[in-house]
Amino acid sequence: MKERPDLPESRRLWERATKSLPGGVNASARLDRALGHALFFTHGEGACLYDADGRRYVDYCMSHGAALLGHGHPAVAEAVRYALELGVLCACETEHQITVAERLKELFPGTDLVRFTCTGTEDTWHAARVARAFTGRMGVVKFEGHYHGVNDTAGFSHWPDPDQAGPADNPRPVAESAGIPPHNADLVTVLPFNDEEALERTLRAGSESIAAVIMEPINYDSCGLVPTETFLRLVRDLTRELGIVLIYDEILSGFRCGPGSAVANRDVIPDMTCLGKAVGGGMPLSIFMGRRDIMETCTPVGPALHSGTYNAHLTLVLAARAFLDVVCAPGFYQGLGQLGERLYAGIREIMRRRGIPCWVQGVGARFGLLFGLEREPRNYREVAAQDLDLADRFHLACLERGVFLAQGSPHHGYSAAHTARDIDDTLEIMDRSAAAL
Ligand SMILES: Cc1ncc(COP(=O)(O)O)c(C=O)c1O
Repeated sequence: MKERPDLPESRRLWERATKSLPGGVNASARLDRALGHALFFTHGEGACLYDADGRRYVDYCMSHGAALLGHGHPAVAEAVRYALELGVLCACETEHQITVAERLKELFPGTDLVRFTCTGTEDTWHAARVARAFTGRMGVVKFEGHYHGVNDTAGFSHWPDPDQAGPADNPRPVAESAGIPPHNADLVTVLPFNDEEALERTLRAGSESIAAVIMEPINYDSCGLVPTETFLRLVRDLTRELGIVLIYDEILSGFRCGPGSAVANRDVIPDMTCLGKAVGGGMPLSIFMGRRDIMETCTPVGPALHSGTYNAHLTLVLAARAFLDVVCAPGFYQGLGQLGERLYAGIREIMRRRGIPCWVQGVGARFGLLFGLEREPRNYREVAAQDLDLADRFHLACLERGVFLAQGSPHHGYSAAHTARDIDDTLEIMDRSAAAL
């Protein structure tokens, strides 16, 4: 029997919403299946969300990672006010786009040219298109359990049902949505993460037809899986040798562990990088960027069309400039890292003491809670063995007590607005929630 918070106002709003919005929501993940309806919020501030029933939550969804600075950070709010003063400009180039591009080039080694676009979904889609146009090949290799948005190019095998997904060492592409043309699957090869043998076999056999390998260098969309050193290096070495474009999808991992790539310190530099979420300070900004020769495939220099009314919208670009100022300030990541250590150590201690099997996979400012697992998973199939029912029960118990972990999300996270006091309050609530399980 699941403990379910009674949230009458949220339920009432959701029932009303179902009459105007499919499923009562604007993104499928916002329907809280464990709760039985969507949550409706009134506002967010710093580390907290406030719901329509007047409850306050310490937030560990943080806009699915977009709010790394917290909700309504003053520097971002100021940037937005400035954008209003400048006339909410879009479809115009200004000096600010150059400034932000220059700063990204400093932070991401191997980046010569930058393009701004809006959502992560269109970002990875553009990156794959550019890679295809650059190489003249059409195949895309992705890893099982990695998420790159809901586009028809990479929208395969994020969280497939293992019974439908073929053998673990040779998975088949499973479309994440109805309506994706079935023949798109012919252009996608899905590989198990951290499997060097499958990687080498596939890339060598398909080198004539593979345009790109796209990956989350930290696979937060499967609870924070980390690549082994040798796997990451092999991906780089093979793609370089075979002329395949290596795309890091850092929409979630970028800025999560330091001011730039989550793995750049390992000196494994991709050909292209996709950014989104955090970099916009909560605004819908995404970016694809990379080597000059590849990026010059974009129109108007090359033949791969990249255009859009809202590309590099000034409001978003100014928010990104403010974001970069904040995260590049001395001590920012030291403070952020200390919060994570406190949180992750605390959750591990609670789960151990309460006798609940749960692997806490904390990587930078985001983490996975893998109920039912007792050791670090290396790939999606190991992640898929987790106990999602127990995860739902923990989510509902925490929700009832004032901690918001998004239901069904493979990753949770904190922000720079969280304080040590917020973390301690959270741990106290998680302890009582664990006891209630
Ligand atoms: C790694 C990664 N890539 C792409 C996306 C898609 O981004 P968006 O939701 O902005 O379309 C996400 C979103 O969760 C993501 O985590």
